[in-house]
Amino acid sequence: MSVEDLTRADIERILDRAQSFAEVSGRAIKKVPALRGRTVLNLFYEASTRTSSSFELAAKRLSADFVSVRAQGSAVDKGESLKDTVRTLSAYDPALVVIRSPWAGAAELVARWAPAAVVNAGDGKREHPTQALLDLYTLWQRVGALDGLKVWIVGDVLHSRVARSNVLAFRRMGCEVTVAGPPTLVPREIESLGCRVRASLDELAEADVVYALRMQRERMEGAFVPSLREYAARYQIDGRRLSPQQVLMHPGPVNRGVELSAEVIDSPQALIAQQVEAGVVVRMAVLYELLASGGQQEPAAGLGLQAPVPAVVEVAGQSA
Ligand code: NCD
Repeated sequence: MSVEDLTRADIERILDRAQSFAEVSGRAIKKVPALRGRTVLNLFYEASTRTSSSFELAAKRLSADFVSVRAQGSAVDKGESLKDTVRTLSAYDPALVVIRSPWAGAAELVARWAPAAVVNAGDGKREHPTQALLDLYTLWQRVGALDGLKVWIVGDVLHSRVARSNVLAFRRMGCEVTVAGPPTLVPREIESLGCRVRASLDELAEADVVYALRMQRERMEGAFVPSLREYAARYQIDGRRLSPQQVLMHPGPVNRGVELSAEVIDSPQALIAQQVEAGVVVRMAVLYELLASGGQQEPAAGLGLQAPVPAVVEVAGQSA
């Protein structure tokens, strides 16, 4: 439901398991029988490319049967119809439901109505926990230990469920988190999650990791910035603002030329493609954790998460 549900040990166990699934993804036949005969159901009430496709691949690579249902938000009369839909689909006896919805708390409701396990794949502006997990995985694979890393999350924090989940997740792993953006798009309450707030990018040079957010125009009713041009002038991550030792992340989809310039999107510092790739193995690990681990919650077995903090983020391995 939320990153808040996860301890650091839980996160490390999931990331370790994701790493073991990366080996499966490298095989010609990318399948293991772990979830044979189980049904995974995607129930998406909001647009999605990466999240829905990676949950589908993850379920299929674990040999589960997979059903996908997409509903168009505006046409659906929420409360009752979500309940009815869930009740109807429960007739297929799914072992797990992946739900994305524009309503905060929808995943908890589904969990109340369906006997299946439930994964929150984004609930309105609130949380997107598997995105946070795949981001931690991607960063861990690139730089090693996460403790003490300085992470700057930049942009439309107000409308971003990724921002909330990621502040929580990066903090859990010992990172120092700063969120930055126009004051109209950065709620001060976010500080209660354990991060600092900045209204400018003046100190961005201190960051090891720059995590840019998409301008969520579909969630904006009024004007939160004077214009996208002005936003870009003050907050766009471009070749001048990103220094060579920093790594760049973005959950996708990117508004090219708004939050990121084309040159940084295509630079070797960008981990955007690696984040998408990580989505499959991390979601395999989440499905496995919920359906196949049999409650076995052994601690992570020394795969580098406890390793000492690198003094600088290494970008030497950029070809990786
Ligand atoms: C994010 C989402 O939908 O919350 N995208 C994603 O899952 N990769 C972020 C976004 O839409 O900006």
